[in-house]
Amino acid sequence: MQKNKFIVIEGLEGAGKTHACKCIRNTLQEHNIKNIILVRQPGGTPIAEKIRQLTKKISQEKIVKETELLLMYAARIQLVETIIKPALKNGKWVISDRHSLSSLAYQGGGLGIKKKIILQLHDLFLKNFFPDLTIYLDVTPKIGLKRVANRSLLDQIESRSVNFFKKTRAVYLKNINNNENFIKINANLNIHTVTKKITKELSNWLKKNQ
Ligand code: TMP
Repeated sequence: MQKNKFIVIEGLEGAGKTHACKCIRNTLQEHNIKNIILVRQPGGTPIAEKIRQLTKKISQEKIVKETELLLMYAARIQLVETIIKPALKNGKWVISDRHSLSSLAYQGGGLGIKKKIILQLHDLFLKNFFPDLTIYLDVTPKIGLKRVANRSLLDQIESRSVNFFKKTRAVYLKNINNNENFIKINANLNIHTVTKKITKELSNWLKKNQ
């Protein structure tokens, strides 16, 4: 059985994903896992980073929701095929800041594209390529957006309404199944507590799945 895994971190803006990625890497290293790469979506390759800029930049031309979905998938396919799959094949562990669940939550929940369409798109290009583990940081839009507003100018997606993020979160919550492949963490708590919880839950998961 292949031992190295594909781990994804998910959550709304301001959930603390960037910090959590470092915490996941540290926890893996404490379990003697050394061969790790960290990527983000959209992004992670030169082409996918250009797509990231397109999706983030505020411009006068309003982006059509289907265009946004396809851009997210274009970036994802580029990253999966050129970086993630080869890394997994070479025995590396991969930590990705976001994956397909983001499309289901943001373009499905937030923008209202049918789940069936997103799943068809996924199936068409990525088949059953899903993470071994998803760690979902659950933050309320109110707390998450306040954290983001305090640190930088808002981008095209971050500047959407609270209602958009409520619908996005609702889809996350609906899809975070109570099973082995998902860990849900309350990210409204302070960073220290969240870090401790991720370390503990991930260590337990590794004991069962490594
Ligand atoms: P972040 O990496 O700072 O979270 O920024 C990525 C942004 O892109 C964030 O607003 C969520 C959004 N996004 C989608 O809307 N759909 C997707 O499939 C992905 C991967 C990201």
